[in-house]
Amino acid sequence: MRDLLDSLDDRAARAPPTVAIDIKSKPEIEKMRRSCQLAADVLDMIEPHVVPGVTTLELDRLCHEFIVRAGAYPAPLNYKGFPKSICTSINEVVCHGIPGDRALVEGDIVNIDITTILDGYHGDTSEMFCVGEVDPAARKLIDVTRRALWLGIQEVGPNKRIGDIGAAIVEFAQREHGYGVVEAFCGHGIGREFHTAPQVSHVGRRGTGMRMREGMTFTIEPMINEGTPNCEILDDGWTAITRDGRLSAQAEHTVLVTADGVEVLTLRSSARR
Ligand code: MF3
Ligand code: CO
Ligand code: CO
Repeated sequence: MRDLLDSLDDRAARAPPTVAIDIKSKPEIEKMRRSCQLAADVLDMIEPHVVPGVTTLELDRLCHEFIVRAGAYPAPLNYKGFPKSICTSINEVVCHGIPGDRALVEGDIVNIDITTILDGYHGDTSEMFCVGEVDPAARKLIDVTRRALWLGIQEVGPNKRIGDIGAAIVEFAQREHGYGVVEAFCGHGIGREFHTAPQVSHVGRRGTGMRMREGMTFTIEPMINEGTPNCEILDDGWTAITRDGRLSAQAEHTVLVTADGVEVLTLRSSARR
């Protein structure tokens, strides 16, 4: 027994520093699809409620009810101590905003991030919403953020390298538009677990990182800042804000690597079929 353990230790010490990335089976992929479509449906449901005067707590309540009624569980609730069922990140909040008494006001931009657990599998997606009329500069930031996400998605496919995803994002958002691409938070592998390998940087370099394989599922979720990419965390231990107090936007999809490219699992119904 001792010898066996020693030889295992030995092998571990010599093994190259690779991380095993989970490959989903057909039935698991079907479960991922269903959880991800539910998460997308939550965004469809909540959109008409994102109006001046509504509190983020009310948005949280509506999403919580919808998810539970669908037989699912809201993954953020009690996750590492997170106190609510969704994240609501307003204006200079980069991510992980906690729903509370704050009422939305005309001109706010807000990210709503939904993660469902349905039949054991996670679906994770987020979108920006404008509260009433918003500044053209804010609208442009949101537009660039959504396009950056889709440029990242276009880099997904079997045998492609994961660094190319973030490279496409940073080339567009930073080099072309002069925005700050947040480095402190990444996309992530997802499935039975909320956050697992691989990490998906949004500031990758071309031709670097592991090669994607058919059956992998992960998120891409760039956070794009008007100014500095640097963030700080508020005393609540969660809320990440921009260092300079300027605006931040984010968009997120969960994707599947397919035999010939990519399937975006969290497309909203308007964009499906
Ligand atoms: N949904 C977020 C993500 O995209 C994670 C939220 S964790 C929480 O990875 F605890 F803040 F909910
Ligand atoms: Co995510
Ligand atoms: Co998310």
